[in-house]
Amino acid sequence: MKTAIISDVHANLEAFQAVLKDIENKGIKEIFCLGDVIGYGPNPRECLKLAKDFPISLRGNHEEAVIFISIDFREDAANAIEWTRDTINSNAYNKDETNDLWDWLGELPRIDERDDMLFVHGTPREPTREYLRPTDVTDKEKTNENFDLIRHICFCGHTHEPGVFEEGPDGKKIYYPIRPGKNMYRITEKKCIINVGSVGQPRDGDNRACYVVLENNIVTYHRIPYDHKITMNKILKIEILPKILATRLEAGR
Ligand SMILES: [Fe+2]
Repeated sequence: MKTAIISDVHANLEAFQAVLKDIENKGIKEIFCLGDVIGYGPNPRECLKLAKDFPISLRGNHEEAVIFISIDFREDAANAIEWTRDTINSNAYNKDETNDLWDWLGELPRIDERDDMLFVHGTPREPTREYLRPTDVTDKEKTNENFDLIRHICFCGHTHEPGVFEEGPDGKKIYYPIRPGKNMYRITEKKCIINVGSVGQPRDGDNRACYVVLENNIVTYHRIPYDHKITMNKILKIEILPKILATRLEAGR
């Protein structure tokens, strides 16, 4: 059984459609989504509608901000959150459809679990908002607290940086970045936290959409090119959305 695990679509319809097409071409029927379907990008409603029927869909910090209030957000992200909320609420759309979207958003869980696998957006100890960055590998307290909360495997997103944290037999944590030519991780008996990267706003210098496929004990990262210029032009036409949200799609930063 193959499962595609995606995260951080960020309302980028072109990247999302390219990834869904690639998943379909691989014959994969099961898709898990780790949150941040919306925020930053120009097509929140369209992306929410595509994400609604996945068997696992989690609440990311951007969903949390749209439902409640945008605390801890920089100005560009906060402006995008306000625009996203207004767009979902716009009278230009069917009212019943809008209510359905809000109901669905309001019910998204912060975590999900299947067998020995935990799914979160951020980290096990703070599922929507905490970042576990590659440099945190040396932060014993942070990594120990997070690894103590998982039985075996955790999948996360949030940092938009694909890579794997692994716990050695001595308790030491090792970080494996995902790079071209090194796009697979074999799950062993060791505990691991696997960051699946971002579909709609990669920040590892590669501007292609990123997602993973889990098959048995093998996690394979896939990078999918898409026409980012279309998404960039949509963002640039929406005055309230900061220009950096367009230019970073080209840079992959
Ligand atoms: Fe995100």
